[in-house]
Amino acid sequence: MSSDNGLSAQSRELQGLMERVHEIAQTKGPVSIAVVNRKGGVGKSSIVTNMACELARRGLKVLVVGLCGQVGVAVDLGARNLSDEGASIADYVLGEGDDVAIVPNVRPNLDVIFGGKRLPILETLVGENAKSVPGGDAIARFRDVMLAKFDPYDVVLMDFPPQQTVTQMMGFTVTDWVLIPTRNDDESMNGVAEMPDLLENARRLNPDIQVLGVTLFMHPTRSTAVRREWQEEMAQIAPQFPVLDTFIPHSLPVSAGSRKRGVVVRELVPQLAGSIATRIQALREGKSPARAISESTAKSIADAYEALTLEVIRKIVEAAR
Ligand SMILES: Nc1ncnc2c1ncn2[C@@H]1O[C@H](COP(=O)(O)OP(=O)(O)OP(=O)(O)O)[C@@H](O)[C@H]1O
Ligand SMILES: [Mg+2]
Repeated sequence: MSSDNGLSAQSRELQGLMERVHEIAQTKGPVSIAVVNRKGGVGKSSIVTNMACELARRGLKVLVVGLCGQVGVAVDLGARNLSDEGASIADYVLGEGDDVAIVPNVRPNLDVIFGGKRLPILETLVGENAKSVPGGDAIARFRDVMLAKFDPYDVVLMDFPPQQTVTQMMGFTVTDWVLIPTRNDDESMNGVAEMPDLLENARRLNPDIQVLGVTLFMHPTRSTAVRREWQEEMAQIAPQFPVLDTFIPHSLPVSAGSRKRGVVVRELVPQLAGSIATRIQALREGKSPARAISESTAKSIADAYEALTLEVIRKIVEAAR
């Protein structure tokens, strides 16, 4: 797969599309992608942060928006100390704050508007009173401030909440594309089955939302038979959604290792060089070292996020033709 300059074919293809995405952003406005499933733990935050880093390191200007009450994005990017837990979004929408806070340079080319535990208040305080919060219509306030914030970026990736419908609906007002991750279990597949109704509601606020497709997260095996079964089931559950080719392989050591270090998987790989040899050496010395994380497994997961990014960007570029 590697070429002379050490880049894989998929990496080169993705790099080659970056200029095109920049042009799309310049002419049509930033490309905004919401990662959505009504179930928790299906990879929303992991996909947002890993894809964001794939794009930012290739020179696109990327904004990550946390619309989830969980800490996923901040933890994955090693940025909990920078996060306001969604306070600036909540305060602004409720008419109590002057602005929404962007934290710049969480990585080169990558800025973040953090979500977190201050967001769920919107479910209670906005809810049916959307039009009567101080400062006017809450959903319109959200849309207007976010579109202004998105303006300087090429790509915006949004981590959607699993349950909070008001925040979800707000997010949909500023969404061009929806990416749906799922695990291969009943609960998360039910989450996909709920997506058509959710999108029907969302399109009442924003008729232009398009679906990129469904991607399989935490696939435990490379078995094509299992994946084919999943694809067939998917085609029955939601035939209107494209099934993406890319899946993210399962590895607890890699995901736990990257979260613990506050780095995405691509950034984890070079930190693992020699870790198995070091562990063997320590064992020989009679010590009891922590289990080593496999560099090659981490690399295959980093490559899967790169492949997913390429698959998504290809679709967006094709649609803009
Ligand atoms: N490749 C992987 N293999 C196994 N586990 C993973 C992998 N990638 C991430 N995880 C773990 O799976 C869990 C769920 O992932 P993630 O937090 O991205 O999902 P989520 O949809 O954002 O969840 P939530 O709805 O709780 O915010 C996390 O604990 C994460 O560390
Ligand atoms: Mg999350």
